[in-house]
Amino acid sequence: MNIILLGPPGAGKGTQSGRLVDRHGMRQLSTGDMLRAAVKAGTPVGLRAKAVMEAGQLVSDEIVSDLIDAELAAMGPETGAIFDGYPRTEAQAVALDALLAKHGRSLDHVIELAVDEDALVERITGRFTCAQCGEGYHDVFKQPAVAGTCDKCGRTEFKRRPDDNEDTVRTRMAEYRAKTAPILPYYEARDLVARVDGMADIDQVTAAIEKVLAS
Ligand code: AP5
Repeated sequence: MNIILLGPPGAGKGTQSGRLVDRHGMRQLSTGDMLRAAVKAGTPVGLRAKAVMEAGQLVSDEIVSDLIDAELAAMGPETGAIFDGYPRTEAQAVALDALLAKHGRSLDHVIELAVDEDALVERITGRFTCAQCGEGYHDVFKQPAVAGTCDKCGRTEFKRRPDDNEDTVRTRMAEYRAKTAPILPYYEARDLVARVDGMADIDQVTAAIEKVLAS
């Protein structure tokens, strides 16, 4: 199965992708994670992407589509793909269709996480992750059971994304409204879109997504 999770920053794409990976053995293809890894490694792609990401703008279509192409080429055809944060423009949506055809895949669902953008600012600016294992936490919604210690791996170092400050989050949301939301009709015309309430509690969102996958 190949699915797209679509929604603005903080809608829960990464959270829900992680759960689908655990439950179904699918692979999460997050262009944001790939770009952050490239920035950390100081690759040419990372060097080009760093300032763009920190400003909350979109990296070039060509760079992200090349990253997705390489990931799909490295995956076995039997492993399902969750596209998290890709496509984000009409050009990327067209490129994804070509990549799916190239790698012998087809799209099953586009799941739109419908959310209230104002509430998302609190979600994003409060989040942090374990620097070792990447487990996600939140200042208000999900603190570690023992303060300052990761529940999953026991380490005590945490980090926050440089693009998670309020100004950058607002720019990222404006980018979503201007460039990403307009691609929905591209998929609606093929009857691929399912809308899920992303403001519900995390378990309820997962249950709603599972219902779509079973349909
Ligand atoms: P990317 O990494 O994709 O970030 P994003 O789309 O802005 O999404 P986020 O990771 O911020 O949010 P999310 O929806 O995954 O939410 P999460 O599950 O973490 O992209 C970063 C940058 O990279 C872009 O700005 C751009 O520069 C570049 N880029 C990436 N892809 C690109 C592309 N294709 N083209 C061009 N440029 C690209 O949840 C957020 C928080 O909320 C967490 O704390 C979580 O615990 C909590 N939470 C989640 N769900 C719920 C819930 N239901 N109730 C309560 N809390 C919840």
